Amino acid sequence: MNTTSKTTDTSDLREDFLAGMRYVANSVTVVTTDGKAGISGATVSAFSSVSADPPMVLVCLNAESNTLEKIRDNADFCVNVLPEGAKHIAERFAGFHDEEFPDRFDGIDVTASKGPSPVISGATAFICKLDEMVTSGSHVICLGRVIETHAGNFTPLIYMDRKFKRISDLEG
Ligand SMILES: Cc1cc2nc3c(=O)[nH]c(=O)nc-3n(C[C@H](O)[C@H](O)[C@H](O)COP(=O)(O)O)c2cc1C
Repeated sequence: MNTTSKTTDTSDLREDFLAGMRYVANSVTVVTTDGKAGISGATVSAFSSVSADPPMVLVCLNAESNTLEKIRDNADFCVNVLPEGAKHIAERFAGFHDEEFPDRFDGIDVTASKGPSPVISGATAFICKLDEMVTSGSHVICLGRVIETHAGNFTPLIYMDRKFKRISDLEG
């Protein structure tokens, strides 16, 4: 196994951190929100389960994110975990096609739920009420209390080493 480390100054620390994070695999989600502040959605890999009693999740969004601003005002959000065939949706909500599709939701199928935030059809969705926001460095952690879950029976899309990947079973 090859590992490297060099921790001398702040810029090395940042570069080492980013290099390490390239080898962390995450599910790809689209975090959506709607309400009095309007609709928004962004691709987010910084997602985690927090608690089952009560059901809680967290997502981390850059402090500059438009979606974050709207989550703050709407106090509602939905975490849509994408299936492996939905790379195009991940790219759309990461802003790769904002010029072609200024409305990121254009042509995206959504499903009704208990909350106002869009549930992307075919995704595993955690529909949340915003519980708390915690600023940490460049990002804001949004803690959500889950009010409804739609479980999709599929293999999730993965992001690792700056690429989209799929999961495969280990033999044996
Ligand atoms: C695979 C992938 C994962 C991403 N994960 C995050 C993330 O965890 N948090 C974040 O703030 N931005 C993340 N981004 C970047 C946002 O999706 C992107 O900046 C988006 O345009 C933000 O939209 P907004 O400003 O409308 O909220 C990710 C992008 C990609 C392609």
